[in-house]
Amino acid sequence: MTHIRKAVFPVAGLGTRFLPATKSIPKEMLPLIDRPLIQYAVDEARAAGIEEFIFITSPGKATLEGYFDSNGALEDKLATAGKDGLLADLRISNMPEGQHSFVRQAQPLGLGHAVRLAARLVGNEPFAVLLPDDVIRAEIPCLKQMVAAHADIGGNMVATMDVPRAATSSYGVLDIEHRFGRTVRARGMVEKLAPDDAPSTQAVVGRYILQPSVMTRLQGQGAGAGGEIQLTDAIAADLATTPLNGYHFEGQRFDCGSVAGYIEATLAFALARPDLAASISAALTAPRQAMGWQ
Ligand code: UTP
Repeated sequence: MTHIRKAVFPVAGLGTRFLPATKSIPKEMLPLIDRPLIQYAVDEARAAGIEEFIFITSPGKATLEGYFDSNGALEDKLATAGKDGLLADLRISNMPEGQHSFVRQAQPLGLGHAVRLAARLVGNEPFAVLLPDDVIRAEIPCLKQMVAAHADIGGNMVATMDVPRAATSSYGVLDIEHRFGRTVRARGMVEKLAPDDAPSTQAVVGRYILQPSVMTRLQGQGAGAGGEIQLTDAIAADLATTPLNGYHFEGQRFDCGSVAGYIEATLAFALARPDLAASISAALTAPRQAMGWQ
């Protein structure tokens, strides 16, 4: 059994769906209640046993890089004021020295291109990839579920969920060979086909456990769907030597890369918070005029 020690966080995308907010704020720094999206992905990775965090950033993402630094002056201030709760909240963002690195993607040439920039840091071992704009709420964090399943079956693994057929064109989709429990063995994986051409409704979401052979496939790989270097194409090519398994995770995924998904996540997370649930619920159910909403 191989311990999955390293995770790659591709955060170099342009985030155009959130313009103009993302003109100067990285999408991954948008807050879901009071934590930036990237924090949820890092927490999930930590819970799954990840020890090395590799962020693929781009020009304009300095705020994200600075987020992981400790802020001694602020910590001292909170400690002196006895604000222990806030201090603990602040410290979750500190990244211990030597655990994380930033690799720059100069141009957004695609997710596959972003991942392959981590090849030297990942080395010759299996690794995880987490897309922070997919936020997954689950009793057992999604990547932890996958790491446990991967220990049994190995290969390349992608997180999957069932979507309506009409929605398949927005996702990578698995061509399923057979199912066993929460796992499906795939004979192929295709990116964003028309719904009628999709081989199944098992859509891939942003969590992966990959073998280093995928990095080898990515080297020299050209542009695919949408003119971008696609991670999907490398995983599909790797089927020649490595089995591909989809893991139908337990939990709820929010597409925080879209404005509607981000608002849904905000409401769901707020309604799950004891300090916010009553007021948010009242605001949602009160007559619109009473809230001053027309
Ligand atoms: P998206 O497809 O959501 O693209 O990327 P985007 O640029 O972030 O957002 P929009 O579509 O313009 O609104 C999926 C993931 O892949 C990363 C993104 O940061 C995101 O985590 N990515 C994408 C890169 O790191 N580099 C790329 O060249 C493309």
